[in-house]
Amino acid sequence: MRPAPRLPQREPPPGVAQPDYARTGEPQPRPSARLLDGDEIWRLRVAGREAAGVLTHLAGLVRPGVTTDELDVAAYEECSRRRIYPSTLNYHGYPKSICTSVNEVICHGIPDSRPLADGDIVNLDVTVYVEGMHGDCSSMVCVGDVNPVARQLVEGSLLCLQAGIAAAAPGRPFYELGRAIESVASGLGYSVVRQFVGHSIGAQLHTGFQVLHHYSPSESRRLEPGMVFTIEPMINAGTFRAVTWDDGWTAVTADLGRSAQFEHTVLITEHGVEVLTANELVPAA
Ligand code: MF3
Ligand code: CO
Ligand code: CO
Repeated sequence: MRPAPRLPQREPPPGVAQPDYARTGEPQPRPSARLLDGDEIWRLRVAGREAAGVLTHLAGLVRPGVTTDELDVAAYEECSRRRIYPSTLNYHGYPKSICTSVNEVICHGIPDSRPLADGDIVNLDVTVYVEGMHGDCSSMVCVGDVNPVARQLVEGSLLCLQAGIAAAAPGRPFYELGRAIESVASGLGYSVVRQFVGHSIGAQLHTGFQVLHHYSPSESRRLEPGMVFTIEPMINAGTFRAVTWDDGWTAVTADLGRSAQFEHTVLITEHGVEVLTANELVPAA
């Protein structure tokens, strides 16, 4: 992949409640993440459901020849229609409504004028702000006919997310998530990115604690009911090392091998885990 020209940054969608950084580009410092009450959890469920709905809509538009800028415009318009704010727009100055990470791009790929090509794999990462809360999810989409090696990486990265979710339960240490994810990845011959991590989420996009996707025994804090965070393992065919482009955002693999990622926002409950960004059962009218 190479940097390509892109459409100018859009204004915040009119008539939509904005997060604090929508005009300034800089989120205000706030108290760190804490356990959420029932009203906040209800609002996070709305945000998660909306994020999943936008992601499903966008995934249906992917085909060879579509530019990632066209997907970004579609994301902006779908968010406007739903009266939700696309959280990445002007977040620390990020210029677009979604991230689109193609092939060796690990994360934070910026939509541009390059048409998706037959055989590409692309991650669509949708984050939305509604009811005062953020919801965050992403999915790989295969473009046209993808070779079996790349397809297996995509499927493997989904297994890694599922292993992370299955390891999440109240009372368990956070390192169990990284251990489960890394065990699936290394069993398939893949590496786990360390430079980018999951994060607690709520009224702010990246608040409080981090969620490591690799095994680190120092992650001994225990999961508690009321915690809300993302699990978003980035899984590489080759090295886990990342290099960031001069645009300050686009992270690519150091060896240019392919990278794949799926992401959910999850809530820890008394009994286990609730996925807040599971797909809408019925599309919004
Ligand atoms: N959705 C991304 C995540 O998973 C957030 C990207 S922030 C941006 O954490 F500014 F890079 F878009
Ligand atoms: Co995230
Ligand atoms: Co995301």
